[in-house]
Amino acid sequence: MIIQKNNGKVVPQQSGREKFKMVAKTMMGLEEVLAEELRECGAENIECLSRAVAFEGDMRLLYRANYVCRTALAILKPFAEFDANNEQELYDQVYKIRWEKILDVDCTFMIESTTSGEVFTHSYYAALKTKDAIVDRFRRNFGQRPSVDTENADYKFSLHIRDNHVTLLMNSSGESLHKRGYRQAVGLAPINEVLAAGMIKLAGWKCDCNFYDPMCGSGTLLIEAAMMANNIPAQYYREDRFAFKRWKEFNLGEWKSVKAQEDKKIGSGDFDCEIWGNDIDLQVLQQAEKNLEYAKLHKDVMLFNGSFEDQDPPEGKTLIVTNPPYGERIKVEDLNAMYEQLGDTFKKRYGENCEAWLITSDFEAMKHIGLKPSKKIPLMNGQLDCRFLQFELYKGSKKASKNED
Ligand SMILES: C[S@@+](CC[C@H](N)C(=O)[O-])C[C@H]1O[C@@H](n2cnc3c(N)ncnc32)[C@H](O)[C@@H]1O
Repeated sequence: MIIQKNNGKVVPQQSGREKFKMVAKTMMGLEEVLAEELRECGAENIECLSRAVAFEGDMRLLYRANYVCRTALAILKPFAEFDANNEQELYDQVYKIRWEKILDVDCTFMIESTTSGEVFTHSYYAALKTKDAIVDRFRRNFGQRPSVDTENADYKFSLHIRDNHVTLLMNSSGESLHKRGYRQAVGLAPINEVLAAGMIKLAGWKCDCNFYDPMCGSGTLLIEAAMMANNIPAQYYREDRFAFKRWKEFNLGEWKSVKAQEDKKIGSGDFDCEIWGNDIDLQVLQQAEKNLEYAKLHKDVMLFNGSFEDQDPPEGKTLIVTNPPYGERIKVEDLNAMYEQLGDTFKKRYGENCEAWLITSDFEAMKHIGLKPSKKIPLMNGQLDCRFLQFELYKGSKKASKNED
């Protein structure tokens, strides 16, 4: 294992099958869902943290988690851990690490940092001190130093400081894993891909019934659903852009074998239901079409153009998951009236075989749906505090709507 404890010694590199600790980053509210995904990948000693999941496994698991986990933003590998009570101690401890065993002098690197507690109050300065220590060590020992690149660094390090406890981790993903690679066009308010996948999983979709998004925009929920239905790995369209491929310990053979194992599962499921999307805005629907075509999923998804109240869901058992406007980026004349209309449509058009979920940050408009949600899950959509609401339409709403009629 690669953890250092206060001794500044070089961390040994793992052989492919040696187990070590990792941390997968995610969004608030998706920790349990990600833990389940990691369990399915073969992770051990899984522990849910805040916006992250700690687990253990070998290098093959690191490759696999990066490739298939739909609700992970990044997979991090801790490699040094120590205590520091001030900036000088932080510098000294970082300087002791044999960085030359980790990166070459002609590599680029960057440091992301988070601090909590009273010892280090400015994460930026902590990152700067860490960068100085790395650079000084290289300069003193080799007369040259690696450069910092905040855009596309070969090595992305995470510095986590809680009180006086410092952990340094290597980001094995590089670019955030929500950047799946299938987005060719975006609407005004596209939902983050990791959040979309997390919502579908929180809604409990097992690819065993139809899936419908009545306000699909550029189609993120539809594409994530179609990828799940076809067993397409989360990063299938990413063109291999993973930071771990630049690591000294990267093993091309192992990576290829993990990727081949996962790619073999594509299309192996027995999904036999419909995936439908609808949007009032034709232009945005054309963007959805473009994204679906790029992902070669256009034959798996039907798109409709119109207002949600004029479009029935597919026949049969259907899960509805949607991300309506919240009035933040997409302006709607009367949001309360729109949510009321949505509630009416849920009751009167969807009923019987449907269960509906929607995410919103507009708590006032939410009240106008006029149906009692059976679940309210707190989620964040970017900076927006949201609720993900479940409406079990088959449980009484039909009756309620009949009484009202
Ligand atoms: C927040 S966006 C959805 C974004 C989408 N999840 C994505 O990833 O691109 C909300 C969508 O609702 C659509 N919309 C607004 N009013 C609608 C209505 N009455 N019927 C159907 N769609 C509507 C908008 O055109 C917009 O595309």
